[in-house]
Amino acid sequence: MDYTVYKLLHMIGIFSLFLGLGGMISYSKGTSPNKALIGAFHGIGLVLILVSGFGLQAKLFIDGFPTWIIAKLVLWLIFGGIVVIAKKGILKGAALWSVMLLLAAAAAYLGIMKPFQG
Ligand code: HEM
Repeated sequence: MDYTVYKLLHMIGIFSLFLGLGGMISYSKGTSPNKALIGAFHGIGLVLILVSGFGLQAKLFIDGFPTWIIAKLVLWLIFGGIVVIAKKGILKGAALWSVMLLLAAAAAYLGIMKPFQG
């Protein structure tokens, strides 16, 4: 697959993930009429991001796992599990939404700037 196709899939994955996350944390306490749909967007988004992320890594000939990619993988795991934090009420309301936006910004920063090329 072409580099630009991977990039497009990476973006579609991100949009899908955040649609799902937005839906999940809006209903973290109750049940949503769109529960299955929300779960699907979350899951499909995570899978698309991961597959296209490794595709981008390959197309950019990035050897091994530089720190910025490891950091993105950690963020990916957090986006997978943040729902549990929402459901347990550990983080809620404006704090939860702000943390999610900050983590998304961090993932974008890492992907664009590619810092600590160790
Ligand atoms: C989990 C949430 C993630 C988000 C929100 C995210 C977001 C982004 C964004 C916004 C870019 C910049 C695209 C651009 O330069 O126009 C990017 C690039 C990139 N991401 Fe991700 N990413 C995520 C996870 C991952 C993961 C898990 C991997 C690796 C397996 C990955 C690998 C990459 C690579 C290699 C690039 C560089 C693409 C390039 O320079 O053209 N990303 N990511």
